[in-house]
Amino acid sequence: MLKYRPTLKQNARTLRTDMTDAEKMLWSRLRRKQLLDVQFYRQKPVGPYILDFYAPSAKLVVEVDGSQHANAGSTTRDERRDAYLASKGLSVLRFDNLQVLREMDAVVGTIYNAIYVHSAGDLRRGEIPPSPPFSKGGMAFASFGNPIKILLSQSEAALAAALDLDQREARLEAQILLCRALDRPRSWLVSHDRDALAQEQAAAFDALLARRLQGEPIAYILGEREFFSLDFKVSPAVLIPRPETELLVELALERIPPGQPCRVLDLGTGSGAVAISLALRRRQADILAVDRSAAALEVARNNAQSLGAHNLRFAQSDWYGTLEGAKFDLIASNPPYIAAADPHLARGDVRFEPISALVAGDDGLDDIRTIVRHAPTYLNPAGWLLFEHGHDQADACRALLMRAGFSQVATGLDLAKIPRVTYGQRPG
Ligand SMILES: C[S@@+](CC[C@H](N)C(=O)[O-])C[C@H]1O[C@@H](n2cnc3c(N)ncnc32)[C@H](O)[C@@H]1O
Repeated sequence: MLKYRPTLKQNARTLRTDMTDAEKMLWSRLRRKQLLDVQFYRQKPVGPYILDFYAPSAKLVVEVDGSQHANAGSTTRDERRDAYLASKGLSVLRFDNLQVLREMDAVVGTIYNAIYVHSAGDLRRGEIPPSPPFSKGGMAFASFGNPIKILLSQSEAALAAALDLDQREARLEAQILLCRALDRPRSWLVSHDRDALAQEQAAAFDALLARRLQGEPIAYILGEREFFSLDFKVSPAVLIPRPETELLVELALERIPPGQPCRVLDLGTGSGAVAISLALRRRQADILAVDRSAAALEVARNNAQSLGAHNLRFAQSDWYGTLEGAKFDLIASNPPYIAAADPHLARGDVRFEPISALVAGDDGLDDIRTIVRHAPTYLNPAGWLLFEHGHDQADACRALLMRAGFSQVATGLDLAKIPRVTYGQRPG
């Protein structure tokens, strides 16, 4: 019998000489991970005497059947031992030597999860948390020693439970976070699913996972979000670009002729998603992007630079406030349009986004009213105004445009067939 406990060094020293190579490897792995209270038995069945005398605080028993004693455990004896171990609240893991060698990482990972220690001092009888390691809030080094496969399935379950995600979403998020922690592509995870994480990698992954389990949007955790096939840097200073906003870009592109000069204004640029997408598709266009938030403009400027959008300028402005005398052929905007009392503001990703990017008065239409009212002053004849709005605001938006004298007024549907972008043309 082998055991490693600081208080029983004598036994540990004596018994270590009796270890097989496989057991030595496993033992030293466990020791390196400071799993001091793991009790490690070899060949002899674990009975009341051994357990009570040598391992009164054991929570998990690892048994390795030595090759020369391959029949050490008959079915009957195993069942009796299992019943005994269960009555003591103990789990048991059994391996033959070959398996130990082959499954070294998996063994250590499983043990680590099973007993879930931060340090040896934490492990006392009855103190093992019943929940999996990634309960809400995350834990330091919960992933240390885990093989990737196990780690992913645990993280997936924790994410699904904490954030009410379906299994596919939760799996994808777990993979994305792990890829970031390891700085590897997703394809690498599949071919290395038996690898265990090193300590720094585990710490990096646990930190990312803990943030996500608290509800922080994955785009802020990663610091980026794809929009219109471009990678935008994002920070909590800007709204995370949404896929439905791509409709605004598509409808604008239909109205900006390629290869010709055209003056375009993006109102409320945030990360610069709309303005930069337009600038890169219409290099002849001269684009001005404004936002009231200086912090958002800094994010947008950096994105324009890293994505190579040079036909684009930025200005800090309260809507048209600093644009006196300017004229544009097209104005595009994804303004705030959520009603102040909308319960969605208390759920999901939006809780972490700037409120100034989301809310526009009691009915969500305050900013749209301002943008529509003043647009004719800043549009050239036959110029277009296009803006995004909420799923139930299309009728009100079309009415606003018609009242302001726009023609060709219509609403486009996003990919989910939701009325999402309304537009109109200033009479020529
Ligand atoms: C819904 S976000 C859109 C961000 C970006 N265009 C996008 O689609 O991802 C609205 C943006 O409008 C900006 N904004 C809010 N009120 C503003 C105002 N009065 N003048 C200028 N910009 C404003 C916010 O700072 C925010 O960046």
